[in-house]
Amino acid sequence: MPIIDAFEKKTRLKIIDVGFSYGINAALLRTDLSLDDLYAAYLRPSGSLSRRHEIEHRAFFRNRGLRDDIQFVGVDPSFRAVRYARVLGLLKAGIMADLETRDLTVEERCDLAGADVVISTGCVGYATEPTFARVYDASATCRPWVVALAMHPFSYDNIAMALRDFGLETRLVDRFRQRQRRFSTVKERRAILTAMTKLGMEDCLERTTGYIYASCHVSAPPGELV
Ligand SMILES: C[S@@+](CC[C@H](N)C(=O)[O-])C[C@H]1O[C@@H](n2cnc3c(N)ncnc32)[C@H](O)[C@@H]1O
Repeated sequence: MPIIDAFEKKTRLKIIDVGFSYGINAALLRTDLSLDDLYAAYLRPSGSLSRRHEIEHRAFFRNRGLRDDIQFVGVDPSFRAVRYARVLGLLKAGIMADLETRDLTVEERCDLAGADVVISTGCVGYATEPTFARVYDASATCRPWVVALAMHPFSYDNIAMALRDFGLETRLVDRFRQRQRRFSTVKERRAILTAMTKLGMEDCLERTTGYIYASCHVSAPPGELV
């Protein structure tokens, strides 16, 4: 499925990131930095970024040449995360909200309008169908795709059903299965494997690698997923 091709022809991209956090996806897509570069910058004791100075962090990303043709609107209830991403210039707009429990304001709906794609990584489970329905409703006129990585064992079924109400078809894209993190304890491993078995999820990677993986789900208007 040519997921990238679908967006390659665009000269500008507006991306909504549900569970945006401190803005890792924006940092990766708006600069030439890799995830390893970011780890190195944030973790090295004498590295490029001190823990405290947001001005220095802002300069770090500006010096990497943040792309203006890719805009991010983030949705996340974490005050500190959204504030950090805003200060750094990673976001065009940051919606600090838990959309599981409340509707969007008129202003927030305007921020979400005109999106090309809605993405979410590591947030399904915290954010469920009410959040995705509210976000999609505000951006639906442009018919954006929704691309989400759902960590196992979280099911995407209810979100796919909510998106179906907007006329979207959802596919599981198996070749984009993504490593997330190590199991933190033996107990967690056991609980996750049990839940995956109950849900009928394929768990070969979890059983053999010591890592938890995420499945990639892509939702698009009928006929666009070829
Ligand atoms: C594990 S982090 C993932 C962060 C980032 N997307 C990534 O891939 O590195 C989960 C994020 O989901 C956010 N979150 C929790 N509940 C949420 C909700 N109801 N709606 C949106 N985001 C939520 C948390 O604040 C946190 O920033």
